[in-house]
Amino acid sequence: MCGTPSVVTAPAPGVGSTCAGVRDIGPQVTHVPKLTYGSYLCIDDLLSLQRPRSDPPHHDEMLFIVIHQVYELWFRQLLHEIEAAMRSLDADDLLRAQKHFRRIHTIQRLLEQQVDILETMTPQEFNAFRSRLDPASGFQSAQFREIEFLCGAQKTAYLTFLEPTSDERVRLERRLAAPTLYDVLKALLARRGYATQTSADLVASYKTIYENAEQHYDLYLLLEDFIEFDERFLLWRDRHIRMVERMIGMKPGTGGSLGVAYLEKTLSKKFFPELWAVRTELGNGAAY
Ligand code: HEM
Repeated sequence: MCGTPSVVTAPAPGVGSTCAGVRDIGPQVTHVPKLTYGSYLCIDDLLSLQRPRSDPPHHDEMLFIVIHQVYELWFRQLLHEIEAAMRSLDADDLLRAQKHFRRIHTIQRLLEQQVDILETMTPQEFNAFRSRLDPASGFQSAQFREIEFLCGAQKTAYLTFLEPTSDERVRLERRLAAPTLYDVLKALLARRGYATQTSADLVASYKTIYENAEQHYDLYLLLEDFIEFDERFLLWRDRHIRMVERMIGMKPGTGGSLGVAYLEKTLSKKFFPELWAVRTELGNGAAY
């Protein structure tokens, strides 16, 4: 199935030609290659992972499974990028951190847009297989909670929904014990001489940075990366809620919550509240 062989087959001469009489049919494989597209990416394994439960299979259940799996893959990449951004900040390499944030924001935009695909399914189509999902729910996505925990929204109550010895629970407990993205930002600011002890300290420090951007332009841009991350997370939450309301109205969720009424409350979750609070304090600044 999914190995790590190493030989890549070279294309045969003339490959890719568009000359008259030559059909462009891609690389000409002259022997069975050890490493192929399929073996490197474990495509056989990947395609064996979509297992609809409706019987007979409902056409739209495939979309429902695929879209959730795609989200989980992007969650994985987000965790990978956030961890890398944290390492860069620990090393005071703000330029590199900025590069990671650019990718993070691009993925976040995609996560929001992907909801459009799900909305090509109507409520009746969803209802045709919804009962098969009970009691599974995105609420139980361990990677989603890992992102929340890693960024500083650490609600330990979520742990109780996971088996004590499961890998997911172990991963979340590890996240709880580790520094968060916000901790790393505060440590960086402290190294630069800013007060970070209390919420009021942080707002005052952010105000100084925003009002004197020319003196520490790298920090100023970094704060904008942080607020953008937080805003895009909230935009996904909001997009998901509107889609849920369109799909199930005010019905309770398969995960056992009140559904939309529960989800609306999560909109108040901000990873970096002081970065929002400082906006109220800002006046005119120089344009850059
Ligand atoms: C037809 C599509 C969907 C419906 C009707 C739906 C519905 C819901 C509902 C009602 C909840 C609240 C918990 C519960 O009682 O179940 C929830 C939570 C959640 N859903 Fe969805 N969802 C859908 C698609 C998705 C997709 C594609 C994702 C992507 C991963 C997702 C991720 C989540 C997450 C992460 C939560 C937890 C939010 C939080 O607690 O802050 N959902 N969903």
